[in-house]
Amino acid sequence: MKKITIAIDGYSATGKSTLAKGLAKKLNYLYIDSGAMYRAVALYALRNNLITDGQINIPKLISELKNLDIQFVFNPSTYSSETYLNGENVEKEIRTPLVSDVVSKISSIKEVREFLVQKQKEYGKNKGIVMDGRDIGTNVFPDAELKLFVITDIDVRVKRRLDELHSKGIYVSEDEVRKNLEERDYLDIHRKENPLVQAKDAIVLDTTDLDKDQQLEYVLKLIKDLKLIKEE
Ligand code: DC
Repeated sequence: MKKITIAIDGYSATGKSTLAKGLAKKLNYLYIDSGAMYRAVALYALRNNLITDGQINIPKLISELKNLDIQFVFNPSTYSSETYLNGENVEKEIRTPLVSDVVSKISSIKEVREFLVQKQKEYGKNKGIVMDGRDIGTNVFPDAELKLFVITDIDVRVKRRLDELHSKGIYVSEDEVRKNLEERDYLDIHRKENPLVQAKDAIVLDTTDLDKDQQLEYVLKLIKDLKLIKEE
């Protein structure tokens, strides 16, 4: 069976990761959460005092990028990849509000993007990959056979992110979640380097009224209807 590349982009908390994981499981593809890589860099910066009062020591961070080893390790019990930073499982810590508050700023640094995009391209060189993020269809895999741009009503996004955080034992207020999502949307759209923008050939998927099974079903049907995966 011919393998393809699936690029999923969109705003924060639109359900991209859940959809990407579901597709990867169904198609037996590799799943890479590119946002987790930016979050791992943000966590490294926080832990190493490279951020003071919201100000990032950019030259120092750039000089230390070579010390960062970011890996994904598949956990069969949760059927998902977990993020490791220099050998330590940081999957839970990278989702905390402390990291969410600084990650968009970290992701606007050109050298950080170059460092991570090169790794992301490497993951996809044999196809058979689903990657989600903000610039996957426009920058990481411009030749992806399937590009999705996911949108969702903001109230639904706030509720989904709150539920996700609660299920991980992280308790924050609805206002904090909304503020963080709105700020990150703004930064992701307006940054100079590879901003969040819909690829010309992307298909828009509005997940506001679709649960995760319906989203998966819709995309699998799309792959079939467009005859994207053919016998070799
Ligand atoms: O998908 P996420 O919310 O975990 O992503 C965290 C941040 O990383 C998000 O605010 C924007 C940034 N990001 C990016 O700039 N490019 C990507 N390909 C993925 C994420």
